[in-house]
Amino acid sequence: MDTLQPIEKESIRNASELLFNSKYAIVLTGAGISTESGIPDFRGESGIWKKYKPKIYGSIQSFLKDPSKFWKMAEEIAPTLFNAEPNPGHYAIADLEKLNIIKAIITQNIDELHQKAGNVIVYEVHGNINRFTCLGCRASYTKEQLLRKLKKEKNLPPGCNYCGAPLKPSVVLFGESLPNFEKYMSIDIAKKSDVMLIAGSSLTVTPVCDLPLYTLSEGGKIIIVNDEPTYLDERAEIVINNKTETILPLIVEEIKKIKAEHESKTHN
Ligand code: APR
Repeated sequence: MDTLQPIEKESIRNASELLFNSKYAIVLTGAGISTESGIPDFRGESGIWKKYKPKIYGSIQSFLKDPSKFWKMAEEIAPTLFNAEPNPGHYAIADLEKLNIIKAIITQNIDELHQKAGNVIVYEVHGNINRFTCLGCRASYTKEQLLRKLKKEKNLPPGCNYCGAPLKPSVVLFGESLPNFEKYMSIDIAKKSDVMLIAGSSLTVTPVCDLPLYTLSEGGKIIIVNDEPTYLDERAEIVINNKTETILPLIVEEIKKIKAEHESKTHN
């Protein structure tokens, strides 16, 4: 805490109070929470889209035209993605679920680090890298099966064993719709939430970046922890422009202190 500005310490305290006293708090995360785990984000200073044009490497139209472009980018990022471990930011959010402070996480991340850190109620609105589907016959492959294929066959894009068509990871590319269950569940809990903690997202990609508006329109409050400003900063109750891996554990520590004080008061 000693490297923080006084204003940040006050914001951490206020955020902890807000979360501790919430009735239905949820968390919305973006790629920024995983950069400390070695996975590049998309729009930060060394983001993926700084090197690869999203229209060419990240859209379903370009994937269908030439899947090898996507797979060339994926091959470079896959080792970090597949071997990444959760960082203190992920573990802090897992603690929030264990402390029953939050009801769910909505994540734009495909890295499954929230689940690895111990969170259970996780809505992956942009899919994940756990399944690879054949665009021809819909055959489905696990991550392990895909890695074995890439080692054995070397060529990109990896083709289906049965019909030879290219495989696509179960992630949502630009131009694709979100998985229905996660999409409608996220809107529902955003409307229900009286506090939404937003961590590590530039809040620039619809429809996910609109979710906090549901919380606000129902009278809920938002807390933003991000190392860059976002379009919702002036509507947020609290904004902390710092690293998620630094701030989130401090918020959990503060909540544990409030909880202990609360419990000692009720016992005396
Ligand atoms: N702590 C706090 N903020 C961080 C950290 C960190 N350690 N590292 C990066 N950030 C910030 C960046 O400054 C940026 O504002 O996190 C934000 C990440 O924003 P994006 O890279 O745009 O990622 P995200 O918001 O998740 O993007 C949404 O866009 O390309 C699509 O499908 C992709 O899910 C992704 C979606």
